[in-house]
Formats: sequence, C-alpha cells, structure tokens
Amino acid sequence: MSVLSIKGSVPLQGRVGVHGSKNSVLPILAATILCDGQSVIRNCPELSDVKSTLRILRRLGRRAHYQDGVVTIEPGKTSCCEVPERLMRELRSSVVFLGAILAKTGQAVMSYPGGCELGPRPIDLHLSSLRQLGIEITEQNGNLICSAKKVHDTEIHLSFPSVGATENIMLYACGIPATTRVCNAAREPEIEDLACFLNSMGCSIRGAGSSDIFIHGTDSFRPVQHRVMPDRIVAATYLSAVAAAGGEVWVEDLNPEHLSPVLSVLAEAGCEIDAGADTVHIIRDGQLKSMSSIRTMPYPGFPTDAQAPIMAAAALAKGTTVFVENIFESRFRHAGELVRMGADIQVEGHVAVICGVPKLYGTHVGATDLRGGAALAVAALGAKGETIISGLNHIDRGYDKFEENLRSLGARIERVV
Ligand code: UD1
Repeated sequence: MSVLSIKGSVPLQGRVGVHGSKNSVLPILAATILCDGQSVIRNCPELSDVKSTLRILRRLGRRAHYQDGVVTIEPGKTSCCEVPERLMRELRSSVVFLGAILAKTGQAVMSYPGGCELGPRPIDLHLSSLRQLGIEITEQNGNLICSAKKVHDTEIHLSFPSVGATENIMLYACGIPATTRVCNAAREPEIEDLACFLNSMGCSIRGAGSSDIFIHGTDSFRPVQHRVMPDRIVAATYLSAVAAAGGEVWVEDLNPEHLSPVLSVLAEAGCEIDAGADTVHIIRDGQLKSMSSIRTMPYPGFPTDAQAPIMAAAALAKGTTVFVENIFESRFRHAGELVRMGADIQVEGHVAVICGVPKLYGTHVGATDLRGGAALAVAALGAKGETIISGLNHIDRGYDKFEENLRSLGARIERVV
C-alpha cells in the first residue's frame, strides 16, 4: 500500500492551478443519463470517485470514456434502472443517481447508501421530497424500490438545505412535464453548476444559487458540452498548505467568491490575501495568529469540507481557535492524528479547541477520510521532519495530481509504493 512521505518546513513558492470540482462533476455525470445525445464534460478531475461514477454509468448502459480531463458519454439505451450495492457503496454521491434514473425510466432500484466515515448519512429528505413529487418508494431487504406514479406541480419545503436532496429533486424534476418549486434549497455553487448543465440540455431551472428554485422539466434533452466549475475545496487546501508551511503562492483557476469565508479566516490568521478575477495570491511569513470561532454552515457559510485543512494550519497559530462542526457528526477524526504530530487539540462533541503550538513534528499518521487526509498533508508541510501518511485511498477520492502540484511549489513530497 502506498504512503506519502512529506519532509516539511519548506516554504511554498510559485503557481498552482485548481482542477474541476468533484462535488460538481459527480451529479453532472449522473445527469448525463437523461441525454439521448453525446455529453462532453471538460475540466473533469481524474479521481477515484469519478471512476466509480463512470462504472455506474456503464452499468446503466452508457459508454463512458475519460481522457485528459474530458469525459465523453455516448448515447445508449438505458437498459437497466438498478445500481448494484457494490457500486452504491463505492461513493456516497451515488444517491443522486436516484433522481436521474427515475426521470429517465420511471423506476429505480438501489440500496441505501448507508453510513460513512463522517457519521450517519441519512437520506430521509431525499426520499420525502421524491415522494412529494409522486414517487412511490418501498424498502425490501435494504433496497429502495422506487416507481413514478403521478406527475403534478409540486412545492417542496426542505427542513434543511441539503445539497444532495436539492440535487436529487432537480435531477428528477427536470425530466417531468410539471413545475417544481424548492424552498430552502441548498445554495452551494455546485447546485448552480448542475442547473447550468441541465439548462444547456433543455430544461428550465431558475433561481439556482438562491433558496428558491423553480424547475420546469422537459422530455427532450439536447447533446451538451460543459466545463465543470473549479474545486473550491481543493483551492482551500492549497491555501491552507501555504498558511501552514509559509511562502508565497498564486492559486489559479478558481472563483474567489466561492471561497470568501475561507479567505476571511486566512486573512484574520495573518496571511496576506489578494484575490483577483480567478486567482488568489497568498503570502505567509511570520507566525500565524489564532482565528475567531469557525462554525461550519451551509453555503455561503464556512464549508464543512474546509474545516480539517484550516484546522491543520490553526494548530500552528499563536493562540486558541475554536471550531464548531455543525454539518457532520464525526468530522474531527483528523484531530487525533494532528495530536500525534504535536498539536494541542481538545474535542468535545461537535466542538474542537485548538491551542496553537510553535512546531509540529513529523511522524506516522493515517488518513481516515478525504478532507481529514488532506489536513494531515497540510500539517506535514508545516511540520519539522518527515511525516508518513497512510490511507491514501481517501485523499485520491478528491485530489488529482496532489503530490505533483505540491512538488511544483517546492514541497518535498513523494508517494512511496
Ligand atoms: C455535504 C455538504 C456539501 C459538501 C458535501 C461533500 C453542507 C450543507 N453540505 O453535502 O457542501 O460539498 O457534503 O462533502 O455543508 N441530512 C439529513 N437527511 C437527508 C440529507 C441530509 O439529515 O436526507 C443531513 C446530513 O446528515 C448532514 C446535513 O444534513 O448532517 C448535510 O447534508 P447534505 O448537504 O445533504 O450533505 P451532502 O449532500 O453530502
């Protein structure tokens, strides 16, 4: 099994580009099954989650091809409406296939996605929304058997602005001849990107990016070409790495508006931040300062996915920073590994208190989830000595060319097989 070897305390210098967004491309790939023509998706990162999604598309009867950041999905007969459990379990986002398959075939069979390393991942909001849209759902031996019964105009009020539930509603509602309104919808930029893709295929979605979305479906989907938005969490990870290791870097090909809570926190920590149209220039020299409480919230609040990488930088700040995790139950598993590197972190339920230390020290640590794994790399880049990180399958779910990109900034990082 491969590990990452990182020899830290080398300031980072140079320019690094941000690849396409994982959280955007996965629902977009699911949406391609609606299309009878060819779909071409550009700026698609090479990630294990993308490969798992392409396996599901092939299982559903599509020919899917990946080359140099471009995915081409060829039209084909949707011969199957069932996603086998082994594929469902490969990635949590597989649940968005539910809305897309139902829109395409009127039926879907898939297993519950189950819990994951971040704690329980219920899908009650997805299911209650689909029921309101006229889908009959029964459960048999852990499988969800879904079939479209009635089509009517619907107004759905989400009790929480769930990203996945909003995506599932959009993916089903865009394929039925009715108008659907979603109140308290998720406002994440990835929702706007999905809406942009679906609109290019011929649907009419208004209001994506706000809490109030109107969807008018179609039964004829045009072939479509789409460029995936930049990955704001990958951008936040590179910025956190500079905060931890020091140096001067231009993080490019991103949308700084998507990062505003992260940029505010880094500026408060003493980093010089200069945001351009699609670049963020960051300089960190001198010791970081602690930040005021960081509370993860739905967009446009501080993203839960950036909590771990920013915590790794906060471990080296002068003073105390408090993190409150409001989205997922078990999202501090990296804290124990950071403590092994010399960090001073106390976790109590969904609150973590970080008293900054002047130095972290390299040791053997293990990634237990995607962003927690990235956080260990951020900490290692700022640490004295060599850190060995195992559990790279987690990091590979969300970062394309991770070590190559960091090496181009001068980091001493190697994947050792
Ligand atoms: C979440 C993040 C999203 C991030 C993604 C990948 C939020 C609001 N969402 O999206 O920004 O890109 O992870 O890491 O930050 N919930 C229910 N019932 C449901 C659905 C969700 O109780 O049917 C709860 C979840 O348990 C969780 C919260 O709602 O506590 C957020 O869920 P949701 O936005 O749906 O999660 P993801 O779509 O995975």
